[in-house]
Amino acid sequence: MKLSSTFFSLSLAIVSVSAAPFRSLLQARAAVDAVSFEAVDAVWKIHESCNGTQRAQISRAVSDMKLLATSSLEHLLNHPVDSFFVTYFGEAADPAAVIGYFSQLMYGDKGDALLRCDDPDGNCRFDDWNGHWRGDNATEETVICDRSYSTRRPREQLCAFNFDLATDNPNTYFAADLLHRAFHVPNFVHGKVHHHADSYHDCLDLAKTNATAAVENQHSLQYFALDVFSRKMTKWDCVGEVEGKMDDSASQTTQPAPQPTPETQGTKDCHTHADGSVHCGTH
Ligand SMILES: *[C@@H]1O[C@H](CO)[C@@H](O)[C@H](O)[C@H]1NC(C)=O
Ligand SMILES: *[C@@H]1O[C@H](CO)[C@@H](O)[C@H](O)[C@H]1NC(C)=O
Ligand SMILES: *[C@@H]1O[C@H](CO)[C@@H](O)[C@H](O)[C@H]1NC(C)=O
Ligand SMILES: [Zn+2]
Repeated sequence: MKLSSTFFSLSLAIVSVSAAPFRSLLQARAAVDAVSFEAVDAVWKIHESCNGTQRAQISRAVSDMKLLATSSLEHLLNHPVDSFFVTYFGEAADPAAVIGYFSQLMYGDKGDALLRCDDPDGNCRFDDWNGHWRGDNATEETVICDRSYSTRRPREQLCAFNFDLATDNPNTYFAADLLHRAFHVPNFVHGKVHHHADSYHDCLDLAKTNATAAVENQHSLQYFALDVFSRKMTKWDCVGEVEGKMDDSASQTTQPAPQPTPETQGTKDCHTHADGSVHCGTH
């Protein structure tokens, strides 16, 4: 009896000793929970109108788009104002803005944003349309037209088949095409990314003349992402000859006119913008 009561008080002592840290752990957890991040839904959802093969191809392109975004983020965080950054955004540019847009794309709440495969606005009937943002008809929705599956190339082919960033259409790559479409979805970057300059040459000029506009320019962000990523794929870049680079040089008169490549000839790449305008471009 005496023995068991000693054992009882001993075990009580053990319980009270071990209860203290356990309680403080709970208190610590409660404190952490109180400041923990709200869960966000960062997934760009795919609508039920997409069948198995469409869903598979879009999912793949979305994950490749994220790869472009994370590769850009990694580069920006490790080399914030290196020559790539200065080329596309300018010496006076703030990397925080660019880091912000790519972060929102990766980790931001996507709300009700949808990629859909039916053609509710009937725009896929136009020859050159690979997809479009639905604008006022459904601001969170992006339609991917069937044409995308036969014309858009996989990320693995970046720089292959003589592709040059300076002259060819960056939307040729499904991942880059989606990057562009994502920047048009209001929920993703809150309408802060615009079209100030489109061609490669004009984007380089914009970086030199207006860094504030360059950091929020659709195509500057897209070119930067592709150029940085291409260095992981190839030993050399695939920027190619920048058209108009010799603008003020006498040799310009002796240069042959640039020959359009099959991509730039064939694709208008039309899509709708926030102001309701339809934007068609070969770049
Ligand atoms: C999915 O839909 C597209 C477009 O209608 C069609 O071309 C494709 O064959 C369909 N895929 C399957 C597996 O049925
Ligand atoms: C929105 O719907 C109308 C009517 O169906 C159509 O004419 C218009 O082109 C659509 N807008 C877009 C951006 O597709
Ligand atoms: C830079 O571009 C923006 C957007 O086009 C424009 O509003 C602004 O006036 C420009 N700033 C300069 C200094 O040109
Ligand atoms: Zn656009």
